[in-house]
Amino acid sequence: MLGANCFFAFLLFSAASPALAQESAQSPAASGEKAPDDQLHMQTGRIGLVIHGGAGTIERSKMTPQRERQYRSGLERALAAGYEILKQGGSSLDATEAAVRVLEDDPHFNAGKGSVFTSVGTNEMDAAIMDGKTLSAGAVASLKHVKNPISLARLVMQKSGHVMMDGEGAEAFARENGVELVDQKYFFTQERWDALQKIQAAEKHRTGAAGKRILITDEDRHGTVGAVALDKNGNLAAATSTGGTTNKRPGRVGDSPVVGAGTYANNATCAVSATGDGEYFIRATAGHDVSALMEYRGMPLKEGAQTALEKVAKLGGTGGLIAIDREGNMTLPFNTSGMYRGYVGLNGKFIVEIYQ
Ligand code: GLY
Repeated sequence: MLGANCFFAFLLFSAASPALAQESAQSPAASGEKAPDDQLHMQTGRIGLVIHGGAGTIERSKMTPQRERQYRSGLERALAAGYEILKQGGSSLDATEAAVRVLEDDPHFNAGKGSVFTSVGTNEMDAAIMDGKTLSAGAVASLKHVKNPISLARLVMQKSGHVMMDGEGAEAFARENGVELVDQKYFFTQERWDALQKIQAAEKHRTGAAGKRILITDEDRHGTVGAVALDKNGNLAAATSTGGTTNKRPGRVGDSPVVGAGTYANNATCAVSATGDGEYFIRATAGHDVSALMEYRGMPLKEGAQTALEKVAKLGGTGGLIAIDREGNMTLPFNTSGMYRGYVGLNGKFIVEIYQ
C-alpha cells in the first residue's frame, strides 16, 4: 500500500507564500485582458521541475555506494539540464525534453542507451511528450534505432500532423528529419542482458542451478524515465521515455507513449509522468485520472495523484508517478520500495531521492 511518507506536495521557487498565491489566484486580472492563470503566473513567475528514473524494488542494502553515486549524478545532471532552461525563461517543453535526453543517454536508466531487452534480444523503445497549453502530444513506439526517442516524439507532435507513430514508419520519419539513428549495438549493456538471461532462466526453471529460487526484482523487469515542468509563463509539460519491460514480446507497447496513461499535461490542471507496470497504468488511465480528479472533482494535486496510483495498485500494478500543477505544487508518490527521483527545491537546490 502507499505509505503516507510517499506523498508530499510543496510550493517552490517563488518567494510568494501559499497565502499570497491563493490571493493572486482569486484576484481578477486588473486589466481585464489577461486570463486569471496568466495573471497568477505573471505575478509569481513560479517555475518547477520534477523528474524520475523509474520505480521498483530498490533496496538500500543491495545498493553499493558507487552505484548510488552514479544514479544520483544522472538525476542531478537531468535536473541541471531542465532547470537551466526554465531559469533562462525557456519553455516547459524544452525543459522536460532536455532532462529526459540526459537520462536517455545514461546507461543506468531504462530508456535510450540503457533500454532493457525484448524476449528475442532486441531493444524497443517508447516515448511521449505533451504540451499542457495546447493539449498537443507526440508519441513514438517500438523504436529500434533512435538514440533519443523523446526528441522524435517532440518532432511527431510538431511536424508530422499525427500524434503517435511506431516502428519503421516512425524511424523513416526520423531519418527524413535528421534525427540521430544508431545501430542496435549502441543499446547493449551487460546489466540489461544479464537481467534478460535471469528472467528467461526463471521462466524455464523455478529454481537456479544451485537449487535456489531465482529472485526477479522490479529492477530486472522495468524502469522508465520522465520529467514534468512548469515554466514562467504558466505552461505545463510532461515527457516520458522507456525501454519497456525486460523479456517483453516484440511489438509490446507500454503506458509511456499512451497519452492519458503514462504521460499527460493540461495547463488547467497538472502534468504527469508515470513509471511502473505499463499494462496497469494503461488500464487505469492513470495520467488523465490525476487531471480529471482535479478538473471535475476539485481535488488537490497530491490527492488526485494518490487516488490514481491506488487505482493502479487495486488492479495489481506497482510503480509511481511524478506530477506538478499550475501553481507549482509537486507530488511524487510510489508504491514500491524505491523510485529514482528528483526535483528542484527552494532556492534552486537539487533534491535527489531513491528510497521510501
Ligand atoms: N512503464 C513502462 C512500461 O511499462 O513500458
